[in-house]
Amino acid sequence: MKLNILASSLLSLATAQVTFQNSTGTILRTDNGTYGPEIEEYHYYYDQWPIGLAVSSTGRLFVCYTRGNYTFTLGEATNQTAEEPYPSADLNLPVSQLNTSYNGIPFGSSNSTGFISVQALYITPENDRRPETLWVVDTGRPTITNAQGAPSMPYGQPGGPKIIGIALSNDSVYATYTFPPSVHFPDSYMNDIRFDLRSNITEGGQGVAYIVDSSDEGRPGFIMLDLATGESWRRLTQHPSTLRVNNDVPSYQGHPFYQHTIGQPISHLQEGLDGIQISPNGETCYYSPLTGNYLYSIPTRNLLARDTDPLAEQAAHNNVSNLGQRGGNANGFEGDSNGLIYQLVPEHNAIYYYDPKDLQIKGFVRDSRIIWPDSAAIGEDGYFYMNINQLPYQPNWNGGVDGRMHPGAVLRARLLGNGTKITSLA
Ligand SMILES: *[C@@H]1O[C@H](CO)[C@@H](O)[C@H](O)[C@H]1NC(C)=O
Ligand SMILES: *[C@@H]1O[C@H](CO)[C@@H](O)[C@H](O)[C@H]1NC(C)=O
Ligand SMILES: *[C@@H]1O[C@H](CO)[C@@H](O)[C@H](O)[C@H]1NC(C)=O
Ligand SMILES: *[C@@H]1O[C@H](CO)[C@@H](O)[C@H](O)[C@H]1NC(C)=O
Ligand SMILES: *[C@@H]1O[C@H](CO)[C@@H](O)[C@H](O)[C@H]1NC(C)=O
Ligand SMILES: *[C@@H]1O[C@H](CO)[C@@H](O)[C@H](O)[C@H]1NC(C)=O
Ligand SMILES: *[C@@H]1O[C@H](CO)[C@@H](O)[C@H](O)[C@H]1NC(C)=O
Ligand SMILES: *[C@@H]1O[C@H](CO)[C@@H](O)[C@H](O)[C@H]1NC(C)=O
Ligand SMILES: *[C@@H]1O[C@H](CO)[C@@H](O)[C@H](O)[C@H]1NC(C)=O
Ligand SMILES: *[C@@H]1O[C@H](CO)[C@@H](O)[C@H](O)[C@H]1NC(C)=O
Repeated sequence: MKLNILASSLLSLATAQVTFQNSTGTILRTDNGTYGPEIEEYHYYYDQWPIGLAVSSTGRLFVCYTRGNYTFTLGEATNQTAEEPYPSADLNLPVSQLNTSYNGIPFGSSNSTGFISVQALYITPENDRRPETLWVVDTGRPTITNAQGAPSMPYGQPGGPKIIGIALSNDSVYATYTFPPSVHFPDSYMNDIRFDLRSNITEGGQGVAYIVDSSDEGRPGFIMLDLATGESWRRLTQHPSTLRVNNDVPSYQGHPFYQHTIGQPISHLQEGLDGIQISPNGETCYYSPLTGNYLYSIPTRNLLARDTDPLAEQAAHNNVSNLGQRGGNANGFEGDSNGLIYQLVPEHNAIYYYDPKDLQIKGFVRDSRIIWPDSAAIGEDGYFYMNINQLPYQPNWNGGVDGRMHPGAVLRARLLGNGTKITSLA
């Protein structure tokens, strides 16, 4: 009978699926892992694994890599498959000079001109006070590895952790900011940066940088930097919204994840305040810790308030908004001219965004090639660029075994609704 033939062929198909875990041709609904605008493979990494990226108004691609033993930490892509040290090999400190020690305690270098370990990049557009600028966040804290292969991160020394401004017009460093130990603690870790360069934001008229301190070890929070005076101050240090969520077990590619690091017991990934984005009108700072599922915001005026106001910290604590859950952990953020707050969500191989107009999180793009999107940059060309670095497969999280497969990648997709880079804070 026809029905029986159909039934038996379906049965064999079903049996084959179970045996070979191959759903091609199934009559069942499947998750193809994909939605959103078309993704283009823009750049391939065949050597050093990247972390941060930035795209200039003319399409130059800058990349940074945390060290480790990599020969350079800041680079520029020279073609689709290669990068070279930027702005020069000389400014990238040699590996032998990245760390030191004092009374047996390991420290990062205190060199305030050479690049030690660059974590993040951000490009601000040209204005009448400064050129288009590549801003470089040097944590001053490389990862060092002992003879047994156990990785650790030495403390930062004043001078090493710094923010550097490079004029893209002449590829020269024109600004360097370092931090006192009362603002950048030895175990601070500057993870990302955003700017408001409008002349009326601070008295000095040069604007301000907002920096996230994601410190895995201790006291995460915000660091603000007055670009005219070089003064810096902190807000929301150890506020619950900036702290890591303990005992977090994220899933990557469907696998529950625990951290396996040589020299340490099996542990949970832990990282505080990581993603940051300023709204196009400069009034709101959106943020979240990496190991946590809630999105938060605070008015920037609460971050800008100085310690001379004895209520500055109390007011900031009282003005944090919990914007609800997002549907997963998130590391880097970006934002576009439409006010959308993009969040990189490694657990779902996806980029989500928060829309302040309807107060909800939505999916922007999802694709099985998005294996740990580590940072994003929106170009003036209206593209969303993201670094793919396969971080959950890195040796430091997998008992020394490197499961990453070259190439890493920069992927890009067009923004929704003609969105583009925020230029209103220049
Ligand atoms: C999956 O099944 C299809 C047809 O059912 C077959 O053509 C294909 O080779 C299979 N793929 C794998 C990886 O086994
Ligand atoms: C994946 O599935 C979605 C939802 O059904 C669909 O819109 C999309 O076109 C599919 N993509 C591919 C590449 O098949
Ligand atoms: C860095 O260290 C890793 C792991 O020990 C090793 O595989 C790699 O070859 C080293 N790279 C350089 C540039 O020395
Ligand atoms: C890209 O640059 C690298 C390094 O200079 C070179 O080896 C490679 O051939 C270049 N690739 C292309 C496609 O030009
Ligand atoms: C830097 O770290 C390496 C790896 O742990 C260590 O062998 C070396 O002695 C350190 N350098 C200094 C100057 O302490
Ligand atoms: C700091 O780094 C710069 C750039 O690499 C280098 O020229 C300089 O000699 C270093 N300073 C010290 C004290 O090592
Ligand atoms: C590069 O340009 C910046 C900004 O215009 C300027 O401050 C700096 O002096 C220039 N540096 C060099 C080496 O020309
Ligand atoms: C700064 O000036 C802009 C217009 O350029 C205005 O919208 C904004 O409210 C001003 N901000 C402050 C803090 O005065
Ligand atoms: C909270 O932020 C709003 C909006 O910027 C402001 O009007 C209010 O004064 C702030 N409250 C405190 C306690 O700082
Ligand atoms: C985007 O730009 C196109 C071309 O200029 C225009 O037709 C379209 O309406 C714009 N879409 C939105 C959402 O603004």
